Order: sequence, then C-alpha cells, then structure tokens
Amino acid sequence: MLRFDLSFMFEPNTKGGISEEEFASVRDQVTKSVERVVKSRPGFVNVIFDRSYMDSVEDIRQWVLSFNNLVVIGIGGSSLGAVALANALTPPDWNYLTKQERSGYLRIFFLENVDPDQAAAVLDEIDPRETLFDVISKSGSTAECLAHYQVIRGLLQIRGLNPAEHIIFTTDPRKGLLRQIAKNEKIQALDIPQDLGGRFSVLSPVGLLPAMACGVDIKALIDGAKDAYLKCADLNIEKNPAAMMAACHYLHKKKGRNISVMMPYSNRLFSLADWFRQLWAESLGKKYSLDGQIVNEGLTPIKALGVVDQHSQIQLYNEGPDDKTITFLEVERFDRDILIPTIHENDEISYLGGKKLADLLKSELTGTERALASNGRPSMRIIFPTINAYDIGQFFMYYEFATALMGDLLMINPYDQPGVELGKRITYSLMGRKGFEVLKFPEPVKKVVID
Ligand code: PA5
Repeated sequence: MLRFDLSFMFEPNTKGGISEEEFASVRDQVTKSVERVVKSRPGFVNVIFDRSYMDSVEDIRQWVLSFNNLVVIGIGGSSLGAVALANALTPPDWNYLTKQERSGYLRIFFLENVDPDQAAAVLDEIDPRETLFDVISKSGSTAECLAHYQVIRGLLQIRGLNPAEHIIFTTDPRKGLLRQIAKNEKIQALDIPQDLGGRFSVLSPVGLLPAMACGVDIKALIDGAKDAYLKCADLNIEKNPAAMMAACHYLHKKKGRNISVMMPYSNRLFSLADWFRQLWAESLGKKYSLDGQIVNEGLTPIKALGVVDQHSQIQLYNEGPDDKTITFLEVERFDRDILIPTIHENDEISYLGGKKLADLLKSELTGTERALASNGRPSMRIIFPTINAYDIGQFFMYYEFATALMGDLLMINPYDQPGVELGKRITYSLMGRKGFEVLKFPEPVKKVVID
C-alpha cells in the first residue's frame, strides 16, 4: 500500500511552506472539489469498476502468449502508461531473457516517436512471425500511429503473413479509421471507453493488454486503483492523498511555485514521471477557464531521476528560483540489493564498505529532502514499500484523481487538449492530407538562420 509523507510541504518543516491558516483557508474548497469530481463519475473511475475491460484482455490471454514479442504502436496517452508499467514491473533485462526465463510472457517494444533510427532498430530486433502488434489509438487518426501501423502492415505483407493473425487494435468502440479497418478486415479490436481520454486510459485495455503480455498481474493493478479510489472519495481531506496533493500544489502555486518536479529514486519508476508529465501538462495547461476567460493556466511538470539528477538539477532546485515543488518517489525495499565491499581503508571511502547500494540511495534522498527544506524549498514523498502492480495501480488512480481535482480548483477543463490540435493540422497540411491543403499558418517575418 502506497504511503504519502507531505511533511515538508508545510511550515515549520520548510520555511515558506504551507501554514496552518493557509491550509484551513482552502479546506472547504478542496472538500467541495472532491465532492464534485466524485459526483461527475469520470471515465477513469468508471473503467476500473467495469470488469468487462479487464475480461476483454483476459479472454485473449492464450492467443497473446502464443507470441514471443509485443510491439505497442501508439503515442502520448496511448503509450506512456504502458511504457511506465513495463519499465516498473519487469526487470531491466526483460527483453534479453529467453521466453522460458520470462515464464512464457512476451518481450515488449514500443513504436512511439517517428524517429526512423529508433523504429528501424525495433524492427531489426523482432521476427514478425513471432510478433503481435498492438496498434493503439483512441481517435484512430493520429499520424505517428498510422504511419507506424502502415510500416508494420508493409512488413507483414512482404513476409506473406496474415495481418489478422498479427495485429490487434485498441481503439474507440465505434468511431475512427481503426475501428472501420477492424470491421472490414476482421482484425481483433479492444475497446477504449468513449468517456476516457488518452492520458487517463492506462487502466483500460490501453495499458492492460501490454501489461498482461509482459506478465503483470492486471487484477492486482485494478484492485490497487479501486482501493485508492475509495480514499480519493474521502471527504475528510486530511485522510485523502489525492486531495492533499491537490491542496498542496494549489497552495504552492498561489505562492508562485508552479513547477512540479517528480523525482523517483528508482530507475524502474522513472517512466512514471513521464506518464505524470503528460497527465499534468495536457490536463492543466489551458488558455481558457470554464467560463471562457483567458487564464493561461497550468503547472509545468518536470522529471528528474534520483540520485543521478542530484548531480545535475539539485543546485538549481536549492538555490535557483523558488518556483518548484518536488515530489520524491521512494522505494523501501528493492527486489535486489548489492553489498558494497570494503576494499580500501581510507576514510574517504571506507564508510561505504559494508553498506548496501539501497542504503546509499535512501540516504541521498533524505539528504536532498533536508537540504531543500533548509533552503525553504517544499517537497513530499510517495513511498512504495516494494514495486508491485497493486501499488502502481494506486499511483495511477491517485494522480488521475488529483489531476481532476486540480482542474476543478483551477476552474479549467482537465479533459480536453485544444492546444495540441493546431500543430496536428499544420502537419497534416505539410504531409498533403486531403482537406487540409489550404491551411494557412504564419511564416516568420524576420528569418534568423545561421549556416
Ligand atoms: O491524452 C491525450 O488525449 C493525447 O495525448 C492522446 O493520447 C494522443 O494524442 C494520442 O491520441 P490517440 O490515442 O487518439 O492516437
């Protein structure tokens, strides 16, 4: 079960942190936000209480496990959750293990960015005869996804393989091109609920199929999310982690701290910070308020890796602009640990001998937390007793709910992303998509190009 320690968000632990009075001033407001979000019954809550989505994945378990590789094709909300799950819940050398060592589960690869070097390397690595391609797109119209989809269709064609035996779509239940192709060509398709946007979809088949394919206990994942939701709905906000996270970020934002750093002290949890970045950025970065005023709202999410970024970012966080809160992700017990032997007797090194790598990692986290506090820089810890599916499920739910709460508190719509659209349409125009030929976009007046 995840634990939260928000002590250093507050006075007196951190000078300039949240005072008793400041917290009291938003207590009712946050409580009402919790009530409203619960009442609105968002799609990310519905999906975990509707068993049919997990069943749809379990129903094809045997077929999926007949392959050696899964290639997930999707981008943004259609990939970040699955990347986070795979990185957190499989060992770092997963793709190098034999199928037997993987207990029959699949190696996992992602085609996200349309970087040809990266895509070519993935395609070099897999044998299409042993590969299932999971093409994920809610809209069924995202250029990057459709480009990769056609690349792998071409590959299957060259190898004389039947697409219906190697492709599954994960898409809107009714609308969009992928749904149409699935019907026309009898390609299997899993549903993404209509009321669920990409960045909130990790606990739908979008994340569940890739997770199941690489051996994650998806029931535990959903159970974790369900149990977390019960806490998210608690109107006693001091017992509600999502409400406390939202209240703290909201209050610190009022003090000018509108940068939210997430800093896992764990490589396996690092991709959770990528998932969080998208959720926080796309949900809360909005031009208009709910009543149509221009507000240019938002908090900027940043990711950092402990301890690596202590040697890169922490100088800035301690002494630079006081515009950040830092959320540490701590692992209490790693799956493995390594004893540091005593090789030299010199004082500068001998203190490390006999300790474990995890001891050093944890001391560094505490050292960073305390140093930040002494500089008046607020932080909080989310504590993973171990890295397991149940706790990762909890993490997703707490952050989805906290994001919805932040949307309510900031009076913006956290579920749309109009700011992504213009860039997409210009790309369509540049790539010659029918219907977008005459799209106008301004050329720079003064060109500054240096050869
Ligand atoms: O959160 C979102 O809605 C976006 O990030 C989408 O997930 C992303 O643009 C991919 O969209 P789609 O799943 O429609 O291909």
